[in-house]
Amino acid sequence: MFTEDIALFASEELEKVILDLIDERKKCAGDDIISFIIHNSNESEILSDSEIVALSLNILLAASEPVDKVLANCIYHFYRNESYIDLVISNDCSTNSILQESLRITPPVHLIPRQVEDDSCVEGVNLKKGDLIFSLIPSANRDEKYFEHPNTFNPRREFKGHLSYGVGINACIGAQFTNIQLNIALQKLVSILKNYKEITPPTFSEIYTLGATQYNLERV
Ligand code: HEM
Repeated sequence: MFTEDIALFASEELEKVILDLIDERKKCAGDDIISFIIHNSNESEILSDSEIVALSLNILLAASEPVDKVLANCIYHFYRNESYIDLVISNDCSTNSILQESLRITPPVHLIPRQVEDDSCVEGVNLKKGDLIFSLIPSANRDEKYFEHPNTFNPRREFKGHLSYGVGINACIGAQFTNIQLNIALQKLVSILKNYKEITPPTFSEIYTLGATQYNLERV
């Protein structure tokens, strides 16, 4: 079977699992998001089963894909800045400083699409109602107005803000959970990294979300 066929087969299987869950939750509500969507939507806003499937897949993807990419990106930065492995082990640098700087300089989510609501002009660029625009998180995160030497990985920089979790009304609802989860993972991982070295640098791919796709390490 080709990779595309496996992916298609898996997505059909996943869709069936979610559709079965929707049927179950319609009969008997649980303490979960699908039950919440079914039982809290009002008459005029009832979502179809396929809309609930799309929403569930969206949340599942939003919750899983960027997180493993950030972890891989942190490993990437550790191997390029090996002194930080020891600094974290000796508690002279927090895992959160590594995490937030990795999120800034290598954000996993690259593009945030938006459709323009009204004709407008932003920084001299005329936009028409209905135009599609893509906000580029990596570009904002390297804005030299905010970050000194923006292309340098520096977990000790003073200004630690970044836009990797989005901003405003649609900002990531999983940001705090992710920060906790990844800090725990990094605390466990950092001493393990000392036992391995990179054979070849990882390859990065994808456009919408970006992260290391393959890592070749060997025990030292
Ligand atoms: C490193 C991990 C993550 C990153 C970098 C990330 C990034 C983002 C970004 C940039 C947005 C804004 C999208 C937009 O404005 O259109 C967003 C929204 C969202 N994220 Fe995350 N996310 C992460 C983890 C998670 C997790 C773990 C969950 C769920 C537990 C989650 C659930 C969501 C949801 C539901 C939204 C949509 C919020 C809304 O539209 O009101 N994300 N995320």
